[in-house]
Amino acid sequence: MKIGISNDHSAVEMKNEIKKYLEEKGYEVIDYGAQTTESCNYALYGKKAAEAVVNGEVEKAVLICGTGIGISLAANKVKGIRCAVCSEPVSARLSKEHNNANMIAFGARIVGIEMAKSIVSAWLDAIFAGGRHQQRIDTIE
Ligand code: RB5
Repeated sequence: MKIGISNDHSAVEMKNEIKKYLEEKGYEVIDYGAQTTESCNYALYGKKAAEAVVNGEVEKAVLICGTGIGISLAANKVKGIRCAVCSEPVSARLSKEHNNANMIAFGARIVGIEMAKSIVSAWLDAIFAGGRHQQRIDTIE
């Protein structure tokens, strides 16, 4: 499965570690993020990955900025995106089971690398429950 990853300047190191983690799990990772720590605008990087999800270039994507908030707000402006900001794995799992989140975001200044891996893993392993949850998602759309 192809999975996107994107980040701003505050999350280059964490992005590289998560990218490696995903590759070790067997995913093909497409990197839409900032490559250097030079100050940049998270909105552009969130949008880039969100568009890749919507046009089918990748199936889902992981976003990382300082808090996960700015980059997720930008991603959620793209029609068809459901990006959840999660700081722990329970919310990450439920964001897939109940909300069918096709993107997940977290903050490099908020969570450590091991927590970030647990978040990503919980989200990827979860399965959308459908049923009443699909009706609620349809209402958002
Ligand atoms: C960048 O300094 C910071 O504002 C950004 O990474 C993010 O936390 C915004 O939501």
